[in-house]
This record gives sequence, structure tokens and C-alpha cells, in this order.
Amino acid sequence: MISELAAVVVEPERAATWGSSAVDHPMREVTRAVAFDPDGWTPERQARVVELFDSLAPEWNTRDVAGRELPMLDALDRGLAAAPPADRGVAVELGGGTGLYSGALAEHFSTLVTVDISTEMIRLVPAGAALPVQGDGSRLPLADGSIDALVLVNMFLFPTEVGRVLAATGVVVWVNSRGAETPIHLTADEVDQALPGAWDGVSSAAGWGTWSVHWRA
Ligand SMILES: C[S@@+](CC[C@H](N)C(=O)[O-])C[C@H]1O[C@@H](n2cnc3c(N)ncnc32)[C@H](O)[C@@H]1O
Repeated sequence: MISELAAVVVEPERAATWGSSAVDHPMREVTRAVAFDPDGWTPERQARVVELFDSLAPEWNTRDVAGRELPMLDALDRGLAAAPPADRGVAVELGGGTGLYSGALAEHFSTLVTVDISTEMIRLVPAGAALPVQGDGSRLPLADGSIDALVLVNMFLFPTEVGRVLAATGVVVWVNSRGAETPIHLTADEVDQALPGAWDGVSSAAGWGTWSVHWRA
């Protein structure tokens, strides 16, 4: 069951560079397909996703406007605090893009790996905070139950693979930096329903975004 926490981080002034709602964005359809259909990640969808994000990589960091990080930071602060205490040594950021949040994540986990399917994105991850790995979140090069935290910021949810690699006491951190206007968006309840087995969690809004943190019930 998901418990909603009251928002404590206010919404900054809206950035002028944002477009209209992302509800009809083609990535919304892919998001739902991979979350709810075990066969949803088709070679065609994979090719489209790689082409899109390879093409967006050179200008990706221009999206790093002040305030975009607020839901991520609130999730790491209040979300992790709400989860049952456990060793949180090894974290993997899935779909980490150019590593905009590697520094913030490295403050919470002693080992951080960032995985992205886009070669053009992963090559821009700054050296130091995270080990960058080019890979597909639908087939992670990670052992069963080996990861303490999986962090997904505006990234597709591959429920079976998340359930496979996450430690029994692990957490899933889910962030949509523009809330329901994020193209790759699921509500906290949808994440809860898509993950295999029974989970508990907390969710909230922060800044322009929404977040949830999930752990096995
Ligand atoms: C919307 S971007 C978000 C990037 C970053 N998390 C951020 O918020 O700045 C989605 C990222 O997920 C990556 N991605 C998409 N599908 C993936 C997959 N199957 N495996 C790993 N990465 C994937 C894309 O290449 C892209 O970098």
C-alpha cells in the first residue's frame, strides 16, 4: 500500500522553456506498454527509444533548470527515511541519461552505477560520482538480489527485471520531474501495481514533480 505524504517543497516559478502537456507524447505509450505488458519492449520500440535519446543527448543538460532536482532530492530525503532501515550500499540509476543526479545520489550510496541504453547519453556522464554502463534496463547485467536501491528518474519501469535484481530489503525510487506532465510517467499506485509481488511505499509531490519510494511488504 502507498501512503501519501504532504508536500513540503513548494513549486518554483514555472520554467518558460517547457512545452505543453506531455500526455500525448509517444514515450507515454511505451511507458505503459513496458510496465504492464511483459512483451511490451519490442525491438521496434527499443530502436525508436535509442534513436530518440541518442539524438537528444547533445542538448540534454539544457533541461537541468534550477528546481528540476527538487523531487529527486525530496525522494532521497523523506522517501528513504520512510523505508525500513537496511544497508543501502549499492545503488543503480536506471536510465540515468547524462548523469545529472549522479552527484546527489553518490551522497546517499557508497557505490553508484548508472545504466543507460543510449551510448550518446552515457558518454556524457561526468567522471567520478558514478560508474557509467551502457545497457538495457530490460536485461540488466546484474546478479539476482544484488542491488540495494534502484533509482528511476523519468525512466521506463521494467517490473520483472527490477524485481529480479533488487535485494530483499531494497528500495525502488521513482521520480517524475514534471509530475503528470512527464512523458515517461506512472503514478505511485501504477508503479505499485506493476511491480511483481506485494509492496509498500510512500509518495509525495515536490517542486514541479512527483516521487515515490517502494519496498517489499
Ligand atoms: C527521459 S530520459 C531521463 C534521463 C535522466 N534520468 C534525467 O532525468 O535527466 C530517459 C533515459 O532513459 C534511457 N533509457 C530508455 N530506455 C532504456 C532502457 N531500456 N535501458 C536503459 N536506459 C534506457 C534513455 O536513453 C534516456 O537517457
